[in-house]
Amino acid sequence: MQTRRHFINQASAVAGGLGLGLSLDASLLAQSRGANNRISIGLIGCGNQGRYNLEKLMKLDGVRAAAVCDVDETHLQKASAEVVERGQPTPKRYKDFRRLLEDKDIDAIIIGTPDHWHALIFIAACQAGKDIWCEKPISHNLIECKAMVNAAMRHKPVVQIGTWQRSMKHFQEAIRIVQSGMLGKINICRAWMVLSRDIGRETPQAPPATLDWDFWLGPAAKEAYSPNRCHDNWRWFFNTGGSLMTDWGVHMIDIVLLAMRETDPLTITSQGGIISSRDDRDTPDTLQTTYRFPNWILNWEHRFNNSRGLDGGIEHGAEFIGEHGTLIVDRNRYQYIPQPKDGDTPPESKWEESTHWQNFLDCIRSRGTPASDIVSMAKTTTICHLGNIAIQSGNTLHWDAQKQDVANHGSISHCLMYQREYRKPWKLEMHG
Ligand SMILES: NC(=O)c1ccc[n+]([C@@H]2O[C@H](COP(=O)([O-])OP(=O)(O)OC[C@H]3O[C@@H](n4cnc5c(N)ncnc54)[C@H](O)[C@@H]3O)[C@@H](O)[C@H]2O)c1
Repeated sequence: MQTRRHFINQASAVAGGLGLGLSLDASLLAQSRGANNRISIGLIGCGNQGRYNLEKLMKLDGVRAAAVCDVDETHLQKASAEVVERGQPTPKRYKDFRRLLEDKDIDAIIIGTPDHWHALIFIAACQAGKDIWCEKPISHNLIECKAMVNAAMRHKPVVQIGTWQRSMKHFQEAIRIVQSGMLGKINICRAWMVLSRDIGRETPQAPPATLDWDFWLGPAAKEAYSPNRCHDNWRWFFNTGGSLMTDWGVHMIDIVLLAMRETDPLTITSQGGIISSRDDRDTPDTLQTTYRFPNWILNWEHRFNNSRGLDGGIEHGAEFIGEHGTLIVDRNRYQYIPQPKDGDTPPESKWEESTHWQNFLDCIRSRGTPASDIVSMAKTTTICHLGNIAIQSGNTLHWDAQKQDVANHGSISHCLMYQREYRKPWKLEMHG
């Protein structure tokens, strides 16, 4: 059976031959969808979330897990075995994502690597003509957000970012309630993630023989291997991640920005640091960031010493405090707490599975814009990077909405979460 990608390649070759240029016209794409609805996916980064995404997509109609790619042979084998367990043929296996991107059979990729790799793989995938599921936060640092949007604007892939709350009914309803005005004037929003967790201390050691540690580090600064710096725990080091500020901020702050329909704060200030942890991390174990918008304030809080959520909420959430009532939303439900004098019947939430993965496939077929599109998720990710830049620089940041950049950014350009120096041979193409 012809794959969808083969059909499109043939169609574009015909178009090219007729002097119509190489870009696909919508009718050819529509024909290709009619001819073959199957979407071949390649997974790059076969850790926890990458494999979870592949599993979710494989449960949906018309998906073939065509290839898997990882710089750790054990993760590669595991992902490949899971594809076979789910009744599909053994996928192709790659160590180097550039080889997977050359594979003409692959329609779309999942970027499931740690954050420090997202931008380079994303831009290369745009250039290779793949549609993209990219995990959140979209990037390791602020400048990469701009480079990724540029590449997406130029090559126009369908892009879904992994902020799957956007495709959950109860989050959508919570956003509608906020936007309906039912809460009255909202002065304060809060978003948080709080944990009770210590990652311990590890001594640097030789990496396992199955892992290419140098490739895993890629554009990040060279450092000695230890399990704490690698799988899963990389998020607690600025070299590779941005701690809960970006890890969970992009989920919860995203909901606040969507509901409040604003993405340009006036100022950003952060307080915190490593206050109580005695483990290996170099990112704040305690952070409070205040974003001053023209008419309201957003407070972000993360901590690691106590997992009790804010205002009766669970360990993560987003909260809207208005003159008539308060709305709290998390991954399980939303709650509306009216002011005592109000006679409103509090709306109740019903839990339904996120449709984010189906939405991605639908958009690949229709060439529509997915729920977590690259432009709006670049904004959310930028907002989270600003929280980390404020703590790294110790400054109050002033945001220039016109330039979509920190005003006087020369004073913070040394901050790793603003931009990084790429370790050779890796380079960021700003206009990829
Ligand atoms: N949307 C969500 O709810 C959600 C939840 C958890 C994690 N995430 C995101 O998913 C991404 C992965 O997180 P994780 O927890 O699965 O991390 P992980 O450490 O479990 O997995 C990352 C995998 O990428 C591989 N890798 C590293 N560099 C690579 C390269 N150049 N090419 C191919 N593979 C490479 C690693 O070897 C590892 O197998 C992160 O961006 C994270 O923020 C999203």
